[in-house]
Amino acid sequence: MAKLHLNLGENSYDVIIGKNLLNSANKYFNLNRKVLIVTDDGVPTEYSEAISKQCKTSKIVSLKSGEGSKSVDGLSKLYQAMIQMEMDRTDCIVAVGGGVVGDLAGFVASSYMRGIDFYNVPTTLLSQVDSSIGGKTAINFGGVKNIVGAFYQPKCVLVDTDTLKTLPQRQISNGLAEAVKMSLTSDKILFEKLEKLSYDEILNDLESIITASLKIKQYVVEQDEKEAGLRKILNFGHTFGHAIEAQTEMQGMFHGECVALGMLPMSSVSVRERLVPVLKKLNLPVSCQIDIDEALNFVCHDKKCANGFVNAIFVDKIGEFEIKKLSISDFCGLIKGYFAN
Ligand code: GLY
Repeated sequence: MAKLHLNLGENSYDVIIGKNLLNSANKYFNLNRKVLIVTDDGVPTEYSEAISKQCKTSKIVSLKSGEGSKSVDGLSKLYQAMIQMEMDRTDCIVAVGGGVVGDLAGFVASSYMRGIDFYNVPTTLLSQVDSSIGGKTAINFGGVKNIVGAFYQPKCVLVDTDTLKTLPQRQISNGLAEAVKMSLTSDKILFEKLEKLSYDEILNDLESIITASLKIKQYVVEQDEKEAGLRKILNFGHTFGHAIEAQTEMQGMFHGECVALGMLPMSSVSVRERLVPVLKKLNLPVSCQIDIDEALNFVCHDKKCANGFVNAIFVDKIGEFEIKKLSISDFCGLIKGYFAN
């Protein structure tokens, strides 16, 4: 078991990483009050029931899985449940699920009665290595992802690696893409580990890979909680990755798969020579058949693109990064240049 302490002044909290933690959540969370447990229909029901058993009074709300729940409708369902339960400012919300559940439940917690306690139990590898910590909460609105939200830190995060046993392999690869991302910008040793181990050895070592990834995120968030500078490195591979994700929505490409593709043009030739075999081993894509112009059109409308410029993260050497402000046309030229070959 590992414990990280995110030092964010009065918003500080612990992240506990280990096996069989769900059944002892009340050791870490104060559940002796009214608790709204938010989950979705893709998450095994026994996970939310395990939390519910430890609460004084609880209600489980299960949403439809997928980005569609990060909506005004999703918010409304949760606020209604809380009002029905007569929850007040001393009560709390527990999210049990992946990034969608965490983002939505966190935003509800940030806004209900101007903010109540929020605990997060991420159950996908993608949310365990990244979105469950750092306090980004949001819903989608008007066709724009994460456009309405708040920075609102959880009170505690419980990463129970046993929940990964029920996760399909493609979802494991989806999460590992974010671990690769963290290692490329910030941790040569973690990258070398992902390079050296076989796929099966990686699956047997997820707890230490999650811990190493979260230590990177911890450092970044402690330096720059509200993404004024350093935190932008967590978006390595994401500007074009998000564009691919939006364009391939119907084909159902996963976030990590799009980030894998998005990292390639932003890496030097020597980094790419080592990155491509790692991505292939993790069953992540290294090429794709998409309409680059259409995807780049999306980049121009991305909320990360301010006044015609993007903050592009480059990795020329493993474990190091450079943030460069590029005009949209330079960024598009760079992406086209890579995918044209
Ligand atoms: N997932 C990127 C961030 O938390 O900043």
